Amino acid sequence: MATSDTQALRREMVDICRRMNASGINQGTAGNLSVRIDGGFLITPSSLPYETMTPEDIVEMDFDGTYVGRRPSSEWRFHRDILRKRDDVNVVLHCHSVYATTLACHYKRIPAFHYMVGVAGGNDIRCAAYATFGTQALSDNALAALEGRLACLLGQHGQISLGKTLEAALWLAIEVETLSRLYVQALTLGDPPILPDDEMERVIAQMRRMSYGLPPEADGVNDVARPRAGSAC
Ligand code: 13P
Repeated sequence: MATSDTQALRREMVDICRRMNASGINQGTAGNLSVRIDGGFLITPSSLPYETMTPEDIVEMDFDGTYVGRRPSSEWRFHRDILRKRDDVNVVLHCHSVYATTLACHYKRIPAFHYMVGVAGGNDIRCAAYATFGTQALSDNALAALEGRLACLLGQHGQISLGKTLEAALWLAIEVETLSRLYVQALTLGDPPILPDDEMERVIAQMRRMSYGLPPEADGVNDVARPRAGSAC
């Protein structure tokens, strides 16, 4: 795909990277972001501060690992493998958010201590086994932890959040960090009770029915509230 065709997407990626750091879920040159395009994906370059990153710095990669432009993120393998295997998502966001990484340093998964855990697609958010950053082993571990999920923690490393869109992936990463913070705080009072699997099934079905967490203009109905005739949307 020609660079000019991806210009708007490149600009949006730079914006999301800056918002990732401004939101407090990442700092410095940690973290990386990718988006699916025809025949491959766009990915952030390695070790370039987001404040100085321009749309032209974004790297274009094929699924065979060849690329055009700067040196791609050291984590291009897990970005490639997730985008290749998961056709339900188009965006992979990785960051070192403090509370999610705190749990990941203890290899703690996030159980259903709060119903919002369901936004990641199941009754927990798993923690992947450790492997050196940038390796195929880390990619394999991440894919296993993401089975049936939209997010996972990475042991002694950070978190990965997925989405259909850049906005959705950023929203989920912030949500995973908020849940991690709540869970760390809840643990200070003892082990919190965990919602049973059948309740989490109801929660996830309800989230799907209501397009929970998606912007209001997204498809989906709320089966209780209905727009009044003649209202704006
Ligand atoms: P890159 O700058 O190479 O993307 O690495 C950052 C990182 O978080 C590695 O896991």
